[in-house]
This record gives sequence, structure tokens and C-alpha cells, in this order.
Amino acid sequence: MTEKTQTSRNGIGMPLVGFGTYQLSSGQAELSVIEALKVGFRHIDSAEGYNNEEGTGKGIKAAGVAREEIFVTTKLFPGFKQWGAPEKTFDQTIETCKNQLKQLQLDYIDLYLIHAPLAELRLEQWRALVELKKLGLTRHIGVSNYNEERIKEMIDAGFAKPEANQVEFHPICAQVGLTHYMKENSIAPIAYSSLAPLSTWRAEEGQGGEVLSDIKKECQLVTKEIAARLKVSEAKLLLRWGLQHGYSVLTKSCKPERIRENFNVFDFVIPSNDMDCLNQLNQNKPIAWAANGLNPMEAAPMLKYV
Ligand SMILES: NC(=O)c1ccc[n+]([C@@H]2O[C@H](COP(=O)([O-])OP(=O)(O)OC[C@H]3O[C@@H](n4cnc5c(N)ncnc54)[C@H](OP(=O)(O)O)[C@@H]3O)[C@@H](O)[C@H]2O)c1
Repeated sequence: MTEKTQTSRNGIGMPLVGFGTYQLSSGQAELSVIEALKVGFRHIDSAEGYNNEEGTGKGIKAAGVAREEIFVTTKLFPGFKQWGAPEKTFDQTIETCKNQLKQLQLDYIDLYLIHAPLAELRLEQWRALVELKKLGLTRHIGVSNYNEERIKEMIDAGFAKPEANQVEFHPICAQVGLTHYMKENSIAPIAYSSLAPLSTWRAEEGQGGEVLSDIKKECQLVTKEIAARLKVSEAKLLLRWGLQHGYSVLTKSCKPERIRENFNVFDFVIPSNDMDCLNQLNQNKPIAWAANGLNPMEAAPMLKYV
């Protein structure tokens, strides 16, 4: 891990530290993306469901970094009947990606993901992602919030396996079995909500940061002690923990000083005994979607084969 640097990339060319845009307004996304690209981030993570891709696209354009240097991930919102959102068909998936490209002002995406296995039509949607890659509208395709069972479903149906899987990953939710499975199958692991154990995570009202606060407090006793001893912030410690597990990590902030701090995670190493202490905090508890009363990995409806 020590030999990795801020410019290192994983097997699909994705920089190891990416900038996330969830819970930013379109205006905030524009300014934050400019700041992130200015401090050196070269991976931007977006989604149809974040309702801010116009701002993200403006930020990418305004930053003036060459397109081929930036790795852009975005996601299809698959639809979810339980929320009254109709499921997207093959054609609607293709159309959605083309619309997102317009919003982002891009000719191609680097990685296009199905945001979660929330649709009965998820195999039809995956077939559309395979087509989008053939059309050159995305360089790589993958999924998010898919557990081993959902990935096997795709392989059993005769499809190419996803190139990446973006999942919640931090010491309280360490995805041990899934991480092993992705490694065995060369599926690039991407961590989201690495900072969920912090008291400052989604701290504003309505952002859902209070979920599982008792469990988080126990975790903070450990992260505070290790971070103080290693002379780094708890945020950096949590991001570094994800990297040392072989994940690419994503981090979001609307504050310039935090954007800079979160990018700078290659100047220390967590010793193996401290990694062991952090690993022991695992409770397999996802937090990121819990304010919506949902575990996206386990919400999959019956599959509809098409
Ligand atoms: N695929 C999915 O289902 C999924 C789900 C969730 C997230 N994601 C992606 O992953 C990205 C990261 O996840 P996340 O949004 O949960 O973000 P995160 O980076 O884990 O946490 C962001 C929260 O932590 C605070 N924060 C950021 N840097 C900090 C620092 N250095 N010290 C203290 N507090 C800090 C932020 O506040 P301020 O903004 O006020 O600084 C914000 O409240 C998302 O933006 C999105 O792109 C994907």
C-alpha cells in the first residue's frame, strides 16, 4: 500500500480516491467539483438520482482539466415500485444514459452503474448497459449495492459480470464475504460513505446522520484513539482503512478545507495491529440508506427474465 500515490489507479483505470456528489444542490455540485478537481481529485462520482448532474457537468467543464485525465462515474436510477417509481426498460435505460451525458456535457462516461438492484427488470437493465458499452457511451459498466447473490444472478443468466461494484464500506459495515467474492472474481470494489462512523457525517437536519448513533459512538472511541496516535484526522483514518482493504474510496464535502484533507490520504499507513482493531468494529450494519428505511442490498424484488 505504501507504494500507492494520489495518482494511482485500479484495474479499470479509476483513481483510488474519488469525489462524491450526493446531497449537493446543483450549484454546490458545480463549485465543489471545481474545488475537487483543483486540489487533484480525478474521479467524480455522480448519479441520476442526485438531481445535480447539470451542476456537476458545469463544474467539470469549468475546471479546465483534460477529459482523458478525469474518470467520471454515474448511475442509472433503476426505478422502484415500492416508491411509486416505474422501472426502466431497456430503451428507457439507453435514453436515460444519453440524457445524463447531455446534463454532464460529456461524450462518454467512464463507468456506468445500476444504482441498486431495486427493479424486477434488473437483467434487462444490465443488457442495456452492455449495449451502452458497445455503443461507446460508457467505457466500463458495473453495479452498486449488489450482494453476491445478485451478481451470481447476472452470471447465471449468461451475462458478462460487472466490472465494478460500489458498496457501503466502513468499519461498522465491512462486507467481509462480499469483499472476498469481488476479489476472487476481479470485480473492482468501490467504497461509499467511508465517513459514516463520524459524528460530522451528514450532520445537517434531514441528512440521516443520526442513524445508529449509539453504535457510531462506540466506534468513535476507537477511531479517535488511533487517529490521535497516528497524528491524522479520523476522516483520513477511515478513508485509509478502505484503501488498505483494496477499495477505491469516495468522499464528499462542500467545504474546501475538507475536500483538500480528504484527498491527502497517502502520507501515512495504518499499522496492521490498528487495522485489526478497526476490523473488530464490524457489525454488518449499513447506515447510508437507513434513513429511508431501506437496506438496498436486500430490497430486491423477484426477478423478471426478459
Ligand atoms: N451507490 C450508493 O448507493 C451511494 C450511497 C451513498 C453515497 N454514494 C457516493 O459516495 C459518496 C460519498 O458518500 P457520502 O456522501 O455518504 O459521503 P462521506 O464522504 O462518507 O461523508 C460525507 C459527510 O461527512 C462530512 N465530512 C466530509 N469530509 C469530512 C472531514 N474531513 N471531516 C469531518 N467530516 C467530513 C461531510 O460534511 P460537509 O459536506 O459539511 O463537509 C458530509 O456530511 C457520495 O457523495 C456518493 O457519490 C453512493
